[in-house]
Amino acid sequence: MLRILVLGAAAGGGFPQWNSNSNACNRARRGDPHVKARTQSSLAVSADGEHWFLLNASPDLRQQINENPPLHPKNGQRHSPISGVILTNADVDHVTGLLTLRESQPLVVYGSDRVMGTLGANSIFNALNPDFVQRKTIDLGTVFHPQAPDGTPSGLEVETFAVPGKVALYLEDASVGENFGTQAGDTVGLMIRETATGRHFFYIPGCAAMPDDLAQRLTGAPLILFDGTLFENEEMISRSEGIKTGNRMGHMSMSGPEGTLAAFENLGVERRIFIHINNTNPVLLDDSDERATVEAAGWEVSWDGMEIEL
Ligand code: MLT
Ligand code: MN
Repeated sequence: MLRILVLGAAAGGGFPQWNSNSNACNRARRGDPHVKARTQSSLAVSADGEHWFLLNASPDLRQQINENPPLHPKNGQRHSPISGVILTNADVDHVTGLLTLRESQPLVVYGSDRVMGTLGANSIFNALNPDFVQRKTIDLGTVFHPQAPDGTPSGLEVETFAVPGKVALYLEDASVGENFGTQAGDTVGLMIRETATGRHFFYIPGCAAMPDDLAQRLTGAPLILFDGTLFENEEMISRSEGIKTGNRMGHMSMSGPEGTLAAFENLGVERRIFIHINNTNPVLLDDSDERATVEAAGWEVSWDGMEIEL
């Protein structure tokens, strides 16, 4: 059985975001029953229930581990069911949780050459003691079999593929043109399959567009957890909560002719779930019109603690 835990469903900043005084964030702070708070996006996945792999490591990872008993230590004085981390980009909300995993605990970290190069260039990640933490660069388009640090097979196979996106905000270089120096491998999608059963799903928490080859790859998929950053491309600007569009940030938005709802309309994906949802996105409110709209289009809006079994 393939088990998936949603550790965090929000985009960078989380929900509520520390400096947002929006009505939505204040409802979440007040504990409004229609507005669940959410930590920053990450999944945990396991085929055997004992060895878990994180898909990205968010700054909220310590809290996420505490809130998810399958990730608690079980054997001996020092132990973790977390065998490794697979990274989809080098964004702050996806890599800084690695620093929570220090303390000389064996782990394996997987990522594209672009993402592993970013980690390698920043000495703070040496806090993950290289005597214990292996780093493995994954070639795009290949299938790899994650292993626990002691070599125990995970029972999973993973394919990584480039998706349209943007280099991490802190690596943007405006002098090299409109794409800020973005290269293939800065943002990847993952297809995770249980080797024994063939059950599989896609994890794509960041995606800037739906080109034909990506649409083809996703057609007929049984399950996808997909970038749900914004509902409208301009919502941060129109709400005076930011200066950037979704396009500028490297994210598709849900609505509009180029949006996610339209892009998936004819792909025949059985189960569609939004994740990496920005604190400005009204789908976070259970009682919003926008939530009703995405649900009517067959989408679910993920929350921290959501569990899926395939
Ligand atoms: C994004 O998803 O666009 C980034 O996480 C933004 C950020 O670094 O805050
Ligand atoms: Mn992000």
